[in-house]
Amino acid sequence: MQAKITLLPGDGIGPEVVGEAVRVLDVIASKYNHTFEYKERLMGGCSIDKYGSSLTDETLADCQSADAVLLGAVGGPKWDDPAAKDRPERGLLALRKGLGVFANLRPVKVHPALMEWSPLKPEKLKGVDILVVRELTGGLYFGWPKGRDIKDGRERAVDTLEYYDYEVRRVMELAFKLAKGRKKKVTSVDKANVLESSRLWRQIATKVGADNKDVELDHMLVDTASMKLITGPAWMDVIVTENMFGDILTDEASVLAGSMGMLPSASLGESTVGLYEPIHGSAPDIAGKGIANPTGTILSTAMLLRHSLKLEAEAAAIEKAVDETITEGARTADIGGKLTTRQMADEIIKKL
Ligand code: IPM
Ligand code: MG
Repeated sequence: MQAKITLLPGDGIGPEVVGEAVRVLDVIASKYNHTFEYKERLMGGCSIDKYGSSLTDETLADCQSADAVLLGAVGGPKWDDPAAKDRPERGLLALRKGLGVFANLRPVKVHPALMEWSPLKPEKLKGVDILVVRELTGGLYFGWPKGRDIKDGRERAVDTLEYYDYEVRRVMELAFKLAKGRKKKVTSVDKANVLESSRLWRQIATKVGADNKDVELDHMLVDTASMKLITGPAWMDVIVTENMFGDILTDEASVLAGSMGMLPSASLGESTVGLYEPIHGSAPDIAGKGIANPTGTILSTAMLLRHSLKLEAEAAAIEKAVDETITEGARTADIGGKLTTRQMADEIIKKL
């Protein structure tokens, strides 16, 4: 097949990990006879530096017209001034909104060979296979009003946690659909004892649950969920939650897998364009050293092949290659080894 992929390597370690992921895609292309046509564009801090905007209209258009977008990471200390008009992260949020990717899938699996590496006891980690479905284009990140002003002579800052019913319903329905291909269990995470938006969230979850009786639904408060993720992660399957809760819970869940560097994500939505990115950030402390773990980005390309290009066999081949590579002991620094980004990718490519 022929597919158009827009690459947004971004900042920090982004270009390093995306570079390796593209090598993996190239191997897949030649082995399975596909043509992947890449367009590489700037997004994030690098785009602020060059164009004065974290996401230009042209770059957004190049993403919207692609079959899929592969993103590295954005941000860094250079662009961290709280008074700055634009920020790398704004570009990422505008991209998610502009692509309409309302659901962010973050699978968390623990490779048996990495159990010793996680700070949790191996017996807690056995059988962990979680899919977090994070709502991605609503909530605190986008709610209005938002901003700073002076009120009653005092400086004030406001963010709004806003959800429309349809925003909750569509991500909930997707979570239930995905649960049907798994253990048929959905945990909806909210803060319904305090937040109005969470009470709407819970009511809609209950309604969608009633329409999908073959899937078991339970509700959990976010504070409890953050504890259960550590004390009993093997009991969880599909977790569906609002934007910011999902952001926080997935960083926590990455500890189960041993490192943030291991985890991929797929953002899906209204159109057929999917956005694929590792869950880790730009890691300015190790940027440019060539030691970042490319696995999360490489696994994101597997999700890209599966969800946007419907190439299941190719996706599974990458996942298997990663699995075997880890089994055989290949390790970057974040998981206790000495391999460089390039060497780690080479090991994965050898298995393909
Ligand atoms: C993530 C990141 C982003 C988010 C940042 C970089 C805006 O933390 O993808 O989890 O908060 O969504
Ligand atoms: Mg995050």
